[in-house]
Amino acid sequence: MQVFELHKFGLDGLIRSDRPIPTPGYGEVLVKLKAASLNYRDLLIIKGLYNPNLPLPLIPLSDGVGEVVEIGEKVTKVQTGDRVAGIFMQNWLSGHLTQKAAKSALGGEMNGVLAEYVVFPEDGLVAIPPHLTDEEAATLPCAGVTAWNALIEGGLKPGDTVLTLGTGGVSLFALQFAQMAGARIIVTSSSDEKLVKVKELGAFAGINYKTNPDWEKEVLALTNKVGVDYVVEVGGAGTLAKSLKAVRFGGNISLIGVLAGTQARVNPLLAVMKGVSIRGIYVGSKAMFAAMNKAIAHHKIHPIVDRTFPVTDIFAALKYLESGSHFGKISLIF
Ligand SMILES: NC(=O)c1ccc[n+]([C@@H]2O[C@H](COP(=O)([O-])OP(=O)(O)OC[C@H]3O[C@@H](n4cnc5c(N)ncnc54)[C@H](OP(=O)(O)O)[C@@H]3O)[C@@H](O)[C@H]2O)c1
Repeated sequence: MQVFELHKFGLDGLIRSDRPIPTPGYGEVLVKLKAASLNYRDLLIIKGLYNPNLPLPLIPLSDGVGEVVEIGEKVTKVQTGDRVAGIFMQNWLSGHLTQKAAKSALGGEMNGVLAEYVVFPEDGLVAIPPHLTDEEAATLPCAGVTAWNALIEGGLKPGDTVLTLGTGGVSLFALQFAQMAGARIIVTSSSDEKLVKVKELGAFAGINYKTNPDWEKEVLALTNKVGVDYVVEVGGAGTLAKSLKAVRFGGNISLIGVLAGTQARVNPLLAVMKGVSIRGIYVGSKAMFAAMNKAIAHHKIHPIVDRTFPVTDIFAALKYLESGSHFGKISLIF
């Protein structure tokens, strides 16, 4: 089988090789991959910017879906022919995040899904919503579950207002889940064209954060000077100070990403004086993934896939992700 392994950090360290198809052991399942999707994290990992101490060689990518083609002894929860996705953290099934679970993320601490066949423990898989294509379903494990955890597990209610930053994978899932929950959505983007698209998807308002660097003032103006109930904070240190101004008193900020950098001066007192709840989000559990899939199936939600590349074009796909010109998700087809 074909597999891509990272032998040294950097795009040129990703090497395609031939390996024998693995055999599932006790309680394990062999999955023939059909599609995968890219996350910003994959780019950071490959470049050595995520955790330069990750042991190499490593098979990258966390998000993949496929068909169960062989089951090991004593497997009871899946059968051959099932369409499944790997869960992001193989050891986070339910409850709160633990250190053990945090060390079981695919394509990082553990080998990922950039391979034609992958063996998973049977508990490391969920069934995918039947109405989705493979390239749509492949977007769910990281970006989908993260947005679900931030908003739905975070207690979003109908009538709330949500602010999402940018139009990448997590942010557009947040838009879709917020809409499903009856919330109102404000989106920022560097592109007026993308802002037109988010309005077509149902966003209440869009703000260009490049031409309007004081976007937090615009958010306040759009909310009668009250601020939003939830911020899906994918920017990190570079945007947090503005998010703290854009959120309402007693509101919620989900700390998720680092798109705007990891170092900046932020005054935490504003969070204290406004009684803001700040919650760190690290994807989510298998139970959250299953709950999300149920809602996606009921509401017939289709993830926003910008482009699909053949897996052999992984380098072009990663460069496209790096360019930031995508809208939503980038998938790979095997
Ligand atoms: N904690 C977790 O569990 C978790 C899970 C998933 C992702 N993440 C993190 O969350 C972030 C987003 O991930 P993703 O996969 O959704 O990324 P992505 O799809 O690559 O999103 C990229 C988009 O973000 C927007 N963006 C870039 N710089 C920005 C800035 N300074 N301010 C506001 N928006 C900016 C841009 O949108 P426009 O083109 O519209 O400007 C860009 O197209 C990453 O840092 C990722 O590592 C964390």
